[in-house]
Amino acid sequence: MHDRLRCDQTQAWSALRALHAAEPQGPDLRRAFEQDAGRFAAFSQEAPHVFADLSKNLVTPAIEHQLLALARECGLEAFRDTMFSGQAINTTEQRAVKHFLLRAPRPADGAPAQDADLAAVHATLDAMLDYAEQVRADTAITDVVNIGIGGSDLGPQMASIALEAFATGRVRLHFVSNVDGHELAAVLARCQPRHTLFLIASKTFTTTETMTNAQSARAWFDAGGGGDVARHFCALTTNVPAAQAFGIRTTFGFWDWVGGRYSLWSAIGLPLAIAIGAQGFRAFLAGAHAMDTHFRKAPLASNLPVRLALIDVWYRNFLGFTSRSVAPYHSGLRRWPAYLQQLEMESNGKRVDLQGRPLPFATSPVVWGEPGTNGQHAYFQMLHQGTDIVPVEFVAVRQPAHALQGHHARLLANALAQAQALMVGQQDAGGHRHFPGNRPSTFLLLDALDPASLGALIALQEHRVFVSGALWGINSFDQWGVELGKVLARDIEPRLADGNTQGLDASTAGLLQRLRGGH
Ligand code: F6P
Repeated sequence: MHDRLRCDQTQAWSALRALHAAEPQGPDLRRAFEQDAGRFAAFSQEAPHVFADLSKNLVTPAIEHQLLALARECGLEAFRDTMFSGQAINTTEQRAVKHFLLRAPRPADGAPAQDADLAAVHATLDAMLDYAEQVRADTAITDVVNIGIGGSDLGPQMASIALEAFATGRVRLHFVSNVDGHELAAVLARCQPRHTLFLIASKTFTTTETMTNAQSARAWFDAGGGGDVARHFCALTTNVPAAQAFGIRTTFGFWDWVGGRYSLWSAIGLPLAIAIGAQGFRAFLAGAHAMDTHFRKAPLASNLPVRLALIDVWYRNFLGFTSRSVAPYHSGLRRWPAYLQQLEMESNGKRVDLQGRPLPFATSPVVWGEPGTNGQHAYFQMLHQGTDIVPVEFVAVRQPAHALQGHHARLLANALAQAQALMVGQQDAGGHRHFPGNRPSTFLLLDALDPASLGALIALQEHRVFVSGALWGINSFDQWGVELGKVLARDIEPRLADGNTQGLDASTAGLLQRLRGGH
Protein backbone atom coordinates (compact mmCIF):
# COMPACT_ATOMS: atom_id res chain seq x y z
CA MET A 1 0.00 0.00 0.00
CA HIS A 2 2.89 2.34 0.79
CA ASP A 3 4.67 1.78 -2.50
CA ARG A 4 2.12 3.77 -4.47
CA LEU A 5 3.54 6.82 -6.19
CA ARG A 6 2.43 10.18 -4.88
CA CYS A 7 1.12 12.46 -7.65
CA ASP A 8 4.18 14.73 -7.67
CA GLN A 9 6.53 11.76 -8.16
CA THR A 10 5.06 10.75 -11.51
CA GLN A 11 5.99 11.47 -15.11
CA ALA A 12 2.45 12.60 -15.80
CA TRP A 13 2.89 15.33 -13.19
CA SER A 14 5.81 16.73 -15.19
CA ALA A 15 3.79 16.47 -18.40
CA LEU A 16 0.95 18.36 -16.75
CA ARG A 17 3.40 21.04 -15.62
CA ALA A 18 4.48 21.46 -19.23
CA LEU A 19 0.87 21.72 -20.41
CA HIS A 20 0.22 24.28 -17.72
CA ALA A 21 3.32 26.28 -18.62
CA ALA A 22 2.16 26.42 -22.24
CA GLU A 23 -1.21 27.86 -21.20
CA PRO A 24 -0.97 29.17 -17.62
CA GLN A 25 -4.60 30.38 -17.54
CA GLY A 26 -5.84 27.11 -18.99
CA PRO A 27 -7.47 26.74 -22.41
CA ASP A 28 -9.97 29.25 -23.78
CA LEU A 29 -13.31 27.49 -23.58
CA ARG A 30 -15.01 29.56 -26.25
CA ARG A 31 -12.28 28.70 -28.74
CA ALA A 32 -12.29 25.07 -27.63
CA PHE A 33 -16.00 24.78 -28.44
CA GLU A 34 -15.51 26.50 -31.79
CA GLN A 35 -12.69 24.19 -32.75
CA ASP A 36 -14.21 20.95 -31.56
CA ALA A 37 -17.83 20.18 -32.44
CA GLY A 38 -17.56 17.03 -30.34
CA ARG A 39 -16.46 18.74 -27.13
CA PHE A 40 -19.80 18.41 -25.33
CA ALA A 41 -19.97 14.69 -26.14
CA ALA A 42 -16.34 14.09 -25.25
CA PHE A 43 -16.61 15.88 -21.94
CA SER A 44 -19.98 14.62 -20.80
CA GLN A 45 -20.43 11.47 -18.82
CA GLU A 46 -23.36 9.22 -18.03
CA ALA A 47 -23.25 7.47 -14.69
CA PRO A 48 -26.03 5.75 -12.75
CA HIS A 49 -28.76 8.34 -12.07
CA VAL A 50 -26.41 11.24 -12.83
CA PHE A 51 -25.48 12.91 -16.10
CA ALA A 52 -22.48 15.22 -15.96
CA ASP A 53 -21.47 17.94 -18.39
CA LEU A 54 -17.77 18.52 -17.80
CA SER A 55 -17.25 20.40 -21.06
CA LYS A 56 -17.19 23.88 -19.49
CA ASN A 57 -14.09 22.99 -17.51
CA LEU A 58 -10.63 24.32 -18.32
CA VAL A 59 -9.37 21.04 -19.72
CA THR A 60 -8.46 19.77 -23.16
CA PRO A 61 -8.27 16.18 -24.38
CA ALA A 62 -4.48 16.43 -23.94
CA ILE A 63 -4.82 17.57 -20.33
CA GLU A 64 -7.36 14.87 -19.52
CA HIS A 65 -5.11 12.31 -21.18
CA GLN A 66 -2.25 13.23 -18.83
CA LEU A 67 -4.58 13.36 -15.83
CA LEU A 68 -5.66 9.80 -16.61
CA ALA A 69 -2.02 8.82 -16.95
CA LEU A 70 -1.44 10.41 -13.55
CA ALA A 71 -4.20 8.28 -12.03
CA ARG A 72 -2.66 5.14 -13.51
CA GLU A 73 0.85 6.00 -12.37
CA CYS A 74 -0.45 6.63 -8.86
CA GLY A 75 -1.93 3.13 -8.85
CA LEU A 76 -5.46 4.45 -8.43
CA GLU A 77 -7.22 1.31 -9.67
CA ALA A 78 -5.24 -0.96 -7.36
CA PHE A 79 -5.82 1.36 -4.43
CA ARG A 80 -9.55 1.51 -5.16
CA ASP A 81 -9.60 -2.29 -5.22
CA THR A 82 -7.66 -2.35 -1.96
CA MET A 83 -10.40 -0.30 -0.33
CA PHE A 84 -13.10 -2.56 -1.74
CA SER A 85 -11.16 -5.63 -0.56
CA GLY A 86 -11.53 -4.41 3.02
CA GLN A 87 -7.86 -3.81 3.84
CA ALA A 88 -7.10 -1.24 6.52
CA ILE A 89 -6.40 1.76 4.26
CA ASN A 90 -7.06 4.17 7.14
CA THR A 91 -3.53 3.61 8.36
CA THR A 92 -3.42 6.19 11.13
CA GLU A 93 -6.30 4.45 12.88
CA GLN A 94 -5.62 0.93 11.54
CA ARG A 95 -9.15 0.69 10.18
CA ALA A 96 -10.72 -0.65 7.04
CA VAL A 97 -12.94 1.71 5.06
CA LYS A 98 -16.05 -0.19 4.05
CA HIS A 99 -19.01 2.18 3.95
CA PHE A 100 -19.77 0.78 0.47
CA LEU A 101 -20.72 -2.50 2.20
CA LEU A 102 -23.63 -0.73 3.89
CA ARG A 103 -25.35 -0.44 0.52
CA ALA A 104 -24.30 -3.78 -0.98
CA PRO A 105 -27.22 -6.08 -1.76
CA ARG A 106 -27.84 -8.95 0.61
CA PRO A 107 -26.29 -12.30 -0.45
CA ALA A 108 -28.66 -14.30 -2.65
CA ASP A 109 -31.07 -16.54 -0.72
CA GLY A 110 -29.39 -19.72 0.39
CA ALA A 111 -25.92 -18.50 -0.61
CA PRO A 112 -23.38 -18.90 2.17
CA ALA A 113 -22.67 -15.60 3.91
CA GLN A 114 -19.15 -15.19 2.57
CA ASP A 115 -18.70 -11.92 4.29
CA ALA A 116 -19.64 -11.87 7.97
CA ASP A 117 -19.72 -8.06 7.90
CA LEU A 118 -22.26 -8.07 5.07
CA ALA A 119 -24.47 -10.48 7.01
CA ALA A 120 -24.26 -8.20 10.05
CA VAL A 121 -25.03 -5.16 7.87
CA HIS A 122 -28.23 -6.75 6.61
CA ALA A 123 -29.33 -8.02 10.01
CA THR A 124 -28.96 -4.49 11.42
CA LEU A 125 -30.56 -2.87 8.36
CA ASP A 126 -33.59 -5.18 8.58
CA ALA A 127 -34.00 -4.46 12.30
CA MET A 128 -33.57 -0.72 11.83
CA LEU A 129 -36.06 -0.56 8.98
CA ASP A 130 -38.59 -2.58 10.97
CA TYR A 131 -38.19 -0.08 13.76
CA ALA A 132 -38.56 2.83 11.33
CA GLU A 133 -41.85 1.36 10.11
CA GLN A 134 -43.03 0.91 13.71
CA VAL A 135 -42.32 4.56 14.42
CA ARG A 136 -44.15 5.62 11.24
CA ALA A 137 -47.16 3.57 12.35
CA ASP A 138 -47.10 4.80 15.94
CA THR A 139 -49.55 7.71 15.96
CA ALA A 140 -48.50 8.64 19.50
CA ILE A 141 -45.13 9.77 18.11
CA THR A 142 -45.49 13.11 16.37
CA ASP A 143 -41.92 14.41 16.69
CA VAL A 144 -38.56 12.73 16.15
CA VAL A 145 -35.52 14.62 17.44
CA ASN A 146 -32.14 13.53 16.10
CA ILE A 147 -29.37 14.58 18.47
CA GLY A 148 -25.98 14.25 16.79
CA ILE A 149 -23.27 16.37 15.16
CA GLY A 150 -20.95 16.20 12.12
CA GLY A 151 -21.54 12.97 10.28
CA SER A 152 -24.22 12.04 12.80
CA ASP A 153 -26.23 15.09 11.72
CA LEU A 154 -25.29 16.47 8.30
CA GLY A 155 -26.04 13.38 6.21
CA PRO A 156 -29.45 12.44 7.62
CA GLN A 157 -30.44 16.09 7.80
CA MET A 158 -29.40 16.92 4.24
CA ALA A 159 -31.02 13.77 2.85
CA SER A 160 -34.30 14.06 4.74
CA ILE A 161 -34.70 17.66 3.57
CA ALA A 162 -33.86 16.62 0.00
CA LEU A 163 -36.40 13.80 0.06
CA GLU A 164 -39.19 15.67 1.82
CA ALA A 165 -41.49 14.93 -1.13
CA PHE A 166 -41.19 11.22 -0.26
CA ALA A 167 -41.90 11.64 3.48
CA THR A 168 -45.18 10.81 5.18
CA GLY A 169 -45.32 14.30 6.59
CA ARG A 170 -47.02 12.92 9.69
CA VAL A 171 -43.87 12.81 11.83
CA ARG A 172 -41.99 16.07 12.25
CA LEU A 173 -38.21 15.62 12.12
CA HIS A 174 -35.88 17.89 14.07
CA PHE A 175 -32.09 17.95 14.06
CA VAL A 176 -30.17 19.25 17.06
CA SER A 177 -26.41 19.38 16.70
CA ASN A 178 -25.04 22.51 18.33
CA VAL A 179 -24.08 22.51 22.01
CA ASP A 180 -25.57 26.01 22.02
CA GLY A 181 -28.65 25.48 24.20
CA HIS A 182 -30.67 27.86 22.03
CA GLU A 183 -30.97 25.12 19.44
CA LEU A 184 -32.25 22.36 21.73
CA ALA A 185 -34.46 24.74 23.71
CA ALA A 186 -36.20 25.91 20.54
CA VAL A 187 -36.91 22.32 19.46
CA LEU A 188 -38.09 21.19 22.90
CA ALA A 189 -40.46 24.15 23.04
CA ARG A 190 -42.28 22.63 20.05
CA CYS A 191 -42.42 19.06 21.43
CA GLN A 192 -44.24 17.13 24.13
CA PRO A 193 -42.43 14.39 26.03
CA ARG A 194 -45.13 11.76 25.53
CA HIS A 195 -45.19 12.33 21.77
CA THR A 196 -41.44 12.65 21.13
CA LEU A 197 -38.83 10.10 20.12
CA PHE A 198 -35.17 11.06 20.65
CA LEU A 199 -32.54 9.46 18.46
CA ILE A 200 -29.13 9.87 20.07
CA ALA A 201 -26.79 9.56 17.09
CA SER A 202 -23.11 9.29 17.90
CA LYS A 203 -20.60 6.87 16.49
CA THR A 204 -18.43 7.14 19.59
CA PHE A 205 -21.14 8.08 22.10
CA THR A 206 -18.59 10.41 23.68
CA THR A 207 -18.94 13.61 21.63
CA THR A 208 -19.42 16.46 24.11
CA GLU A 209 -22.06 18.34 22.15
CA THR A 210 -24.19 15.26 21.64
CA MET A 211 -23.83 13.99 25.19
CA THR A 212 -24.72 17.42 26.61
CA ASN A 213 -27.81 17.68 24.41
CA ALA A 214 -28.79 14.08 25.19
CA GLN A 215 -28.54 14.68 28.96
CA SER A 216 -30.64 17.83 28.68
CA ALA A 217 -33.23 16.08 26.53
CA ARG A 218 -33.41 13.31 29.09
CA ALA A 219 -33.82 15.80 31.96
CA TRP A 220 -36.59 17.60 30.00
CA PHE A 221 -38.28 14.28 29.28
CA ASP A 222 -38.16 13.18 32.94
CA ALA A 223 -39.32 16.58 34.22
CA GLY A 224 -42.20 16.55 31.75
CA GLY A 225 -43.42 13.17 32.96
CA GLY A 226 -42.42 11.40 29.74
CA GLY A 227 -42.17 8.10 31.60
CA ASP A 228 -40.99 5.28 29.40
CA VAL A 229 -37.37 6.03 28.47
CA ALA A 230 -37.02 2.77 26.57
CA ARG A 231 -39.87 3.79 24.26
CA HIS A 232 -38.78 7.39 23.74
CA PHE A 233 -34.99 7.12 23.42
CA CYS A 234 -33.04 5.18 20.84
CA ALA A 235 -29.27 5.20 20.22
CA LEU A 236 -27.43 4.92 16.90
CA THR A 237 -23.83 4.11 17.74
CA THR A 238 -20.84 1.79 17.54
CA ASN A 239 -20.55 2.12 21.35
CA VAL A 240 -23.60 0.19 22.51
CA PRO A 241 -22.33 -0.25 26.12
CA ALA A 242 -22.10 3.55 26.55
CA ALA A 243 -25.65 3.96 25.22
CA GLN A 244 -26.87 1.31 27.63
CA ALA A 245 -25.07 3.03 30.50
CA PHE A 246 -27.02 6.16 29.52
CA GLY A 247 -30.20 4.16 30.06
CA ILE A 248 -31.10 3.50 26.46
CA ARG A 249 -32.33 0.04 25.61
CA THR A 250 -33.14 0.36 21.90
CA THR A 251 -29.85 0.61 20.02
CA PHE A 252 -28.81 0.14 16.41
CA GLY A 253 -25.12 -0.43 15.93
CA PHE A 254 -22.58 0.03 13.22
CA TRP A 255 -18.87 -0.62 12.90
CA ASP A 256 -15.49 1.07 13.21
CA TRP A 257 -14.97 0.66 9.46
CA VAL A 258 -17.67 3.29 8.86
CA GLY A 259 -16.26 6.81 9.12
CA GLY A 260 -18.58 9.41 10.68
CA ARG A 261 -18.92 11.37 7.43
CA TYR A 262 -19.67 8.14 5.55
CA SER A 263 -22.24 6.85 8.07
CA LEU A 264 -25.50 8.02 6.51
CA TRP A 265 -25.97 4.54 5.04
CA SER A 266 -25.80 2.89 8.46
CA ALA A 267 -28.06 3.17 11.51
CA ILE A 268 -27.23 6.90 11.39
CA GLY A 269 -29.70 6.98 8.49
CA LEU A 270 -32.63 6.09 10.80
CA PRO A 271 -34.23 9.58 10.72
CA LEU A 272 -34.24 9.38 6.93
CA ALA A 273 -35.72 5.86 7.07
CA ILE A 274 -38.46 7.14 9.38
CA ALA A 275 -39.15 9.95 6.93
CA ILE A 276 -39.21 7.98 3.67
CA GLY A 277 -39.92 4.46 4.89
CA ALA A 278 -38.11 1.17 4.46
CA GLN A 279 -38.77 0.94 0.74
CA GLY A 280 -37.49 4.45 0.13
CA PHE A 281 -34.38 3.80 2.21
CA ARG A 282 -33.64 0.62 0.30
CA ALA A 283 -33.97 2.54 -2.98
CA PHE A 284 -31.56 5.13 -1.58
CA LEU A 285 -29.02 2.38 -0.81
CA ALA A 286 -29.54 0.82 -4.24
CA GLY A 287 -28.79 4.13 -5.96
CA ALA A 288 -25.53 4.42 -4.05
CA HIS A 289 -24.67 0.82 -4.83
CA ALA A 290 -25.17 1.46 -8.53
CA MET A 291 -22.63 4.29 -8.28
CA ASP A 292 -20.24 2.00 -6.35
CA THR A 293 -20.43 -0.49 -9.21
CA HIS A 294 -19.78 2.27 -11.75
CA PHE A 295 -16.75 3.42 -9.76
CA ARG A 296 -15.40 -0.12 -9.46
CA LYS A 297 -16.03 -1.24 -13.03
CA ALA A 298 -16.03 1.68 -15.46
CA PRO A 299 -12.72 2.36 -17.23
CA LEU A 300 -10.99 5.41 -15.78
CA ALA A 301 -11.71 7.48 -18.90
CA SER A 302 -15.47 7.03 -18.49
CA ASN A 303 -15.60 6.84 -14.71
CA LEU A 304 -17.43 9.88 -13.40
CA PRO A 305 -15.95 10.08 -9.87
CA VAL A 306 -12.50 9.73 -11.44
CA ARG A 307 -13.06 12.37 -14.12
CA LEU A 308 -14.40 14.84 -11.56
CA ALA A 309 -11.52 14.25 -9.17
CA LEU A 310 -8.90 14.62 -11.90
CA ILE A 311 -10.30 18.05 -12.77
CA ASP A 312 -10.22 18.88 -9.05
CA VAL A 313 -6.51 18.02 -8.91
CA TRP A 314 -5.78 20.00 -12.09
CA TYR A 315 -7.54 23.05 -10.65
CA ARG A 316 -6.01 22.83 -7.20
CA ASN A 317 -2.43 21.94 -8.10
CA PHE A 318 -1.90 23.53 -11.51
CA LEU A 319 -4.39 26.37 -12.02
CA GLY A 320 -4.18 27.23 -8.31
CA PHE A 321 -7.91 27.55 -7.62
CA THR A 322 -8.47 27.55 -3.88
CA SER A 323 -12.18 26.89 -3.68
CA ARG A 324 -15.16 25.32 -5.37
CA SER A 325 -18.65 26.75 -5.15
CA VAL A 326 -21.54 24.31 -5.21
CA ALA A 327 -24.82 25.58 -6.56
CA PRO A 328 -27.73 23.18 -6.18
CA TYR A 329 -30.68 24.39 -8.25
CA HIS A 330 -33.20 22.62 -6.05
CA SER A 331 -34.26 24.04 -2.71
CA GLY A 332 -34.39 20.50 -1.31
CA LEU A 333 -30.60 20.45 -1.66
CA ARG A 334 -30.14 23.47 0.57
CA ARG A 335 -27.94 21.52 3.01
CA TRP A 336 -25.90 20.00 0.13
CA PRO A 337 -23.06 22.52 0.49
CA ALA A 338 -22.80 21.93 4.26
CA TYR A 339 -22.81 18.17 3.73
CA LEU A 340 -20.07 18.39 1.10
CA GLN A 341 -17.98 20.64 3.33
CA GLN A 342 -17.57 17.88 5.88
CA LEU A 343 -17.18 15.16 3.26
CA GLU A 344 -14.43 16.90 1.33
CA MET A 345 -12.73 19.20 3.81
CA GLU A 346 -12.64 16.77 6.75
CA SER A 347 -11.44 14.02 4.40
CA ASN A 348 -8.87 15.88 2.33
CA GLY A 349 -7.93 18.90 4.42
CA LYS A 350 -4.56 17.33 5.18
CA ARG A 351 -1.01 18.67 5.06
CA VAL A 352 1.05 15.49 5.32
CA ASP A 353 1.16 12.31 3.24
CA LEU A 354 0.58 8.77 4.49
CA GLN A 355 4.13 8.66 5.82
CA GLY A 356 3.62 11.91 7.72
CA ARG A 357 5.80 14.00 5.38
CA PRO A 358 4.69 17.61 4.76
CA LEU A 359 3.24 17.96 1.28
CA PRO A 360 4.80 20.29 -1.27
CA PHE A 361 1.41 20.86 -2.96
CA ALA A 362 -2.11 21.92 -2.02
CA THR A 363 -4.94 19.57 -1.01
CA SER A 364 -8.64 20.15 -0.26
CA PRO A 365 -10.20 23.27 -1.72
CA VAL A 366 -12.66 25.29 0.31
CA VAL A 367 -16.13 24.02 -0.58
CA TRP A 368 -18.99 26.44 -0.16
CA GLY A 369 -22.28 27.54 -1.62
CA GLU A 370 -25.99 28.17 -1.37
CA PRO A 371 -28.92 27.01 -3.42
CA GLY A 372 -29.53 28.73 -6.74
CA THR A 373 -31.14 31.11 -7.42
CA ASN A 374 -30.39 32.68 -4.03
CA GLY A 375 -26.64 32.66 -4.51
CA GLN A 376 -27.08 34.62 -7.75
CA HIS A 377 -28.44 37.55 -5.78
CA ALA A 378 -25.60 37.46 -3.30
CA TYR A 379 -22.09 36.33 -4.21
CA PHE A 380 -22.39 35.46 -7.92
CA GLN A 381 -21.17 38.99 -8.59
CA MET A 382 -17.77 37.86 -7.36
CA LEU A 383 -17.94 34.62 -9.36
CA HIS A 384 -18.53 36.57 -12.59
CA GLN A 385 -16.36 39.65 -12.08
CA GLY A 386 -14.16 39.10 -9.04
CA THR A 387 -10.40 38.66 -9.19
CA ASP A 388 -10.45 34.98 -8.16
CA ILE A 389 -11.59 32.19 -10.39
CA VAL A 390 -13.90 29.83 -8.55
CA PRO A 391 -15.11 26.73 -10.37
CA VAL A 392 -18.83 26.25 -9.83
CA GLU A 393 -20.59 22.91 -9.59
CA PHE A 394 -24.25 23.15 -10.57
CA VAL A 395 -26.74 20.46 -9.67
CA ALA A 396 -30.07 20.59 -11.49
CA VAL A 397 -33.07 18.30 -11.52
CA ARG A 398 -35.14 17.81 -14.67
CA GLN A 399 -38.51 17.03 -13.10
CA PRO A 400 -39.88 19.03 -10.18
CA ALA A 401 -41.85 17.45 -7.35
CA HIS A 402 -44.42 20.27 -7.31
CA ALA A 403 -47.11 21.35 -9.73
CA LEU A 404 -46.68 25.13 -9.61
CA GLN A 405 -46.71 26.55 -13.11
CA GLY A 406 -43.71 28.30 -14.56
CA HIS A 407 -41.31 27.96 -11.64
CA HIS A 408 -39.24 25.04 -12.77
CA ALA A 409 -38.51 26.29 -16.28
CA ARG A 410 -37.46 29.60 -14.78
CA LEU A 411 -35.22 27.84 -12.25
CA LEU A 412 -33.55 25.69 -14.91
CA ALA A 413 -33.15 28.66 -17.24
CA ASN A 414 -31.26 30.41 -14.47
CA ALA A 415 -28.96 27.45 -13.88
CA LEU A 416 -28.13 27.19 -17.57
CA ALA A 417 -27.75 30.95 -17.93
CA GLN A 418 -25.32 31.20 -15.03
CA ALA A 419 -23.09 28.45 -16.40
CA GLN A 420 -23.28 30.07 -19.83
CA ALA A 421 -22.51 33.56 -18.52
CA LEU A 422 -19.52 32.30 -16.56
CA MET A 423 -18.10 30.81 -19.72
CA VAL A 424 -19.03 33.24 -22.49
CA GLY A 425 -18.62 36.46 -20.55
CA GLN A 426 -19.45 39.83 -22.10
CA GLN A 427 -17.22 42.33 -23.83
CA ASP A 428 -17.57 45.89 -22.60
CA ALA A 429 -14.98 48.52 -23.14
CA GLY A 430 -16.29 50.56 -20.23
CA GLY A 431 -14.90 48.09 -17.72
CA HIS A 432 -17.67 47.86 -15.15
CA ARG A 433 -19.95 45.85 -17.39
CA HIS A 434 -17.17 43.65 -18.71
CA PHE A 435 -17.38 39.94 -17.90
CA PRO A 436 -14.10 38.20 -18.73
CA GLY A 437 -15.77 34.80 -19.12
CA ASN A 438 -13.83 31.55 -19.46
CA ARG A 439 -14.86 30.77 -15.89
CA PRO A 440 -15.27 27.03 -15.42
CA SER A 441 -18.23 25.03 -14.25
CA THR A 442 -19.51 21.48 -14.04
CA PHE A 443 -23.19 20.70 -14.51
CA LEU A 444 -24.63 17.65 -12.77
CA LEU A 445 -28.11 16.66 -13.86
CA LEU A 446 -30.60 14.29 -12.23
CA ASP A 447 -33.87 13.21 -13.80
CA ALA A 448 -35.67 13.60 -10.49
CA LEU A 449 -34.56 14.13 -6.92
CA ASP A 450 -35.61 10.77 -5.55
CA PRO A 451 -34.09 8.28 -3.10
CA ALA A 452 -32.11 6.39 -5.75
CA SER A 453 -30.70 9.47 -7.48
CA LEU A 454 -29.77 11.12 -4.20
CA GLY A 455 -28.00 7.93 -3.09
CA ALA A 456 -26.05 7.89 -6.34
CA LEU A 457 -25.20 11.60 -6.14
CA ILE A 458 -23.79 11.23 -2.62
CA ALA A 459 -21.78 8.09 -3.46
CA LEU A 460 -20.40 9.94 -6.49
CA GLN A 461 -19.03 12.64 -4.21
CA GLU A 462 -17.61 10.10 -1.73
CA HIS A 463 -15.65 8.36 -4.47
CA ARG A 464 -14.50 11.60 -6.02
CA VAL A 465 -13.00 12.61 -2.66
CA PHE A 466 -11.37 9.19 -2.42
CA VAL A 467 -9.73 9.66 -5.82
CA SER A 468 -8.23 13.09 -5.17
CA GLY A 469 -7.06 11.92 -1.73
CA ALA A 470 -5.48 8.84 -3.31
CA LEU A 471 -3.56 10.92 -5.86
CA TRP A 472 -2.39 13.32 -3.16
CA GLY A 473 -1.20 10.33 -1.12
CA ILE A 474 -3.01 11.43 2.02
CA ASN A 475 -5.24 9.59 4.47
CA SER A 476 -8.74 10.75 3.56
CA PHE A 477 -10.28 8.77 6.40
CA ASP A 478 -8.93 10.25 9.61
CA GLN A 479 -9.63 13.68 11.12
CA TRP A 480 -6.96 14.46 13.69
CA GLY A 481 -7.35 18.13 12.91
CA VAL A 482 -10.55 18.34 14.94
CA GLU A 483 -8.94 17.08 18.15
CA LEU A 484 -6.81 19.98 19.43
CA GLY A 485 -9.73 22.36 19.81
CA LYS A 486 -11.65 19.72 21.78
CA VAL A 487 -8.75 19.31 24.23
CA LEU A 488 -8.35 23.06 24.70
CA ALA A 489 -12.10 23.54 25.25
CA ARG A 490 -11.90 21.04 28.11
CA ASP A 491 -9.12 23.12 29.67
CA ILE A 492 -10.92 26.43 29.17
CA GLU A 493 -14.37 25.49 30.45
CA PRO A 494 -13.43 25.40 34.18
CA ARG A 495 -11.45 28.62 33.72
CA LEU A 496 -14.66 30.36 32.62
CA ALA A 497 -16.05 29.45 36.04
CA ASP A 498 -13.02 30.21 38.22
CA GLY A 499 -11.31 32.94 36.19
CA ASN A 500 -7.91 31.24 36.21
CA THR A 501 -5.95 32.59 33.24
CA GLN A 502 -2.59 31.12 34.23
CA GLY A 503 -0.64 29.82 31.25
CA LEU A 504 -3.02 31.30 28.68
CA ASP A 505 -1.87 33.63 25.91
CA ALA A 506 -2.88 37.26 26.47
CA SER A 507 -5.63 37.25 23.85
CA THR A 508 -7.40 34.15 25.17
CA ALA A 509 -6.99 35.44 28.75
CA GLY A 510 -8.38 38.87 27.83
CA LEU A 511 -11.40 37.40 26.06
CA LEU A 512 -12.04 34.98 28.90
CA GLN A 513 -12.08 37.82 31.40
CA ARG A 514 -14.50 39.82 29.25
CA LEU A 515 -16.79 36.83 28.93
CA ARG A 516 -16.76 36.54 32.74
CA GLY A 517 -17.99 40.12 32.89
CA GLY A 518 -14.69 41.74 33.93
CA HIS A 519 -12.38 43.96 31.90
O1 F6P B 1 -15.26 16.05 15.57
C1 F6P B 1 -15.38 15.49 14.32
C2 F6P B 1 -16.15 14.22 14.35
O2 F6P B 1 -15.37 13.21 14.88
C3 F6P B 1 -16.67 13.85 12.97
O3 F6P B 1 -15.76 13.17 12.22
C4 F6P B 1 -17.89 13.07 13.33
O4 F6P B 1 -18.75 12.94 12.23
C5 F6P B 1 -18.45 13.92 14.44
O5 F6P B 1 -17.32 14.34 15.16
C6 F6P B 1 -19.42 13.23 15.36
O6 F6P B 1 -18.85 12.12 16.01
P1 F6P B 1 -19.76 11.07 16.75
O7 F6P B 1 -20.68 10.46 15.76
O8 F6P B 1 -18.80 10.06 17.32
O9 F6P B 1 -20.53 11.77 17.83
